Amino acid sequence: MVTIDTEHLSDRLPRETLLDAVMGPERFLKPSQLLRDGRAPEIALVARDGRDVVGTVRLWEVDAGGRPALLLGPLAVSPDHQGAGIGSRLMRSALNRAAALGHGAVILVGDAPYYARFGFSAEFTANLAMPAKVDPARFLAVELRAGALAGATGAVTADMDMVRGIIAPVTNDAWRVAA
Ligand SMILES: CC(C)(COP(=O)(O)OP(=O)(O)OC[C@H]1O[C@@H](n2cnc3c(N)ncnc32)[C@H](O)[C@@H]1OP(=O)(O)O)[C@@H](O)C(=O)NCCC(=O)NCCS
Repeated sequence: MVTIDTEHLSDRLPRETLLDAVMGPERFLKPSQLLRDGRAPEIALVARDGRDVVGTVRLWEVDAGGRPALLLGPLAVSPDHQGAGIGSRLMRSALNRAAALGHGAVILVGDAPYYARFGFSAEFTANLAMPAKVDPARFLAVELRAGALAGATGAVTADMDMVRGIIAPVTNDAWRVAA
């Protein structure tokens, strides 16, 4: 039976092995990687089949044009487990976890036909820019809280101090409480 679980330290090596197998080293060249390098994810989930890690998804805090958001990715399921609903379970668990933590929006770069089923759309990212050029049709977001990306304009960056300064001048975590 496949279960969805929080990623543990011991999952890191099998997770990277899985990503190597599914996405190859090109994954390190993606624009999203510029926002992930050297940072710990806010949410990291794995799918386990017994002791094997067969799926992974992580989400990273970003400033999306002046609004706090999470950047989702990479999402991957091992080739021999694809098409069994594991990717969908990882996505729903990740979005539920993000909402439970008080996050208002999730952005990603990926295949719209897949992510549309979870509510992702390019309409929320029309005025946003990733750190490197991406296909606008693949630059997607979902609002977990209505209006969370309203007015979001400009660069997506890993500089959370700025967005916390704008949204919550009282304490660093105040925006989560307000969410
Ligand atoms: C994309 C991925 C995570 C989906 O995981 P999964 O466990 O196979 O997905 P699920 O079983 O939950 O969903 C399967 C459905 O998604 C569809 N699907 C899978 N990949 C898709 C894609 N790239 N674009 C559109 N639809 C896709 C399947 O056709 C299937 O459709 P159906 O429900 O109408 O039959 C997995 O296929 C994978 O790891 N792919 C390679 C890595 C990758 O491309 N990751 C990023 C995606 S942009």
